[in-house]
Amino acid sequence: MKMATREWIRRKVPPPVFQLAQSCWWHSRFYIPHLIASCVVRRNPKVQVFPAGRHLGITEQLCSVNVFAPTEMCRTMTKHGSDKGQGWHNYTTVYFALFNELRRRPLQIFELGLGTNNPNHAFSMGSNGRPGASLRGWRELFPQALVYGADIDRGVLFEEDRIKTFYCDQLDKGAIRQLWAQPVLQGGMDLIIDDGLHTFEGNISFLDGSLEQLRPGGIYVVEDIFRQTIQRWYHRLETVYARQFPYHEFAFVELPNSANKDDNNLVIIRRRQ
Ligand SMILES: C[S@@+](CC[C@H](N)C(=O)[O-])C[C@H]1O[C@@H](n2cnc3c(N)ncnc32)[C@H](O)[C@@H]1O
Repeated sequence: MKMATREWIRRKVPPPVFQLAQSCWWHSRFYIPHLIASCVVRRNPKVQVFPAGRHLGITEQLCSVNVFAPTEMCRTMTKHGSDKGQGWHNYTTVYFALFNELRRRPLQIFELGLGTNNPNHAFSMGSNGRPGASLRGWRELFPQALVYGADIDRGVLFEEDRIKTFYCDQLDKGAIRQLWAQPVLQGGMDLIIDDGLHTFEGNISFLDGSLEQLRPGGIYVVEDIFRQTIQRWYHRLETVYARQFPYHEFAFVELPNSANKDDNNLVIIRRRQ
């Protein structure tokens, strides 16, 4: 849908009607055509693991994902207003492969970046964004999990059944320490997703202060990595993290997508059991 038309409709109709129209449009233009075409079309991610050349368990799991084939996780996240699998990004195809078998477990899930509408914050989602969309998506996908989140914008913090959120500026090491000192966050996380400030410095700052929070078997994901920073990530993963954390598997994953050649990239880290 063209932006101007979308904005016009959004202002004219009540939010539930707008969301229903968006959902019908997405299913007919993206989900169903891709589902059918994926019977014959395959698009596998490019995966680089660290330490380079080592055979890691996560490699085959990631390489075998067809990022062209939408999954149930794409539908659930899109329904809540998240962009993790709506077409511009295809992360929920990879997440389905990694997380589907864990869905009934009482996990601790944390996502940085709730999604602000305030244009004064970096990586604001604009007026159409729904703050907390992905946290609500995780809650639905993992019915036994506790879901936590954090953001620099105090205006979007909220608390609901099985969801609790906190302030954090990921560029501030003290704020990251204070976040992980929160009583309810003790004991570590099974899943940590960084979808906050999409800069190399912001990602590294949060990773440095948070990787130790990952439980054995847990997975840490950095989303929306810009193409221009891929070489910096390769260097950092090989020379710093893979050496400092020998019990973790590190992968840089480029998801092919003809619509998005900019930031459809992930860093995925698994701590071994
Ligand atoms: C793309 S939005 C997150 C979308 C959300 N994760 C979702 O999927 O629904 C990015 C968020 O990062 C937050 N952010 C920007 N700079 C930040 C920082 N320095 N520390 C923490 N969060 C930050 C913004 O306020 C915004 O809410």
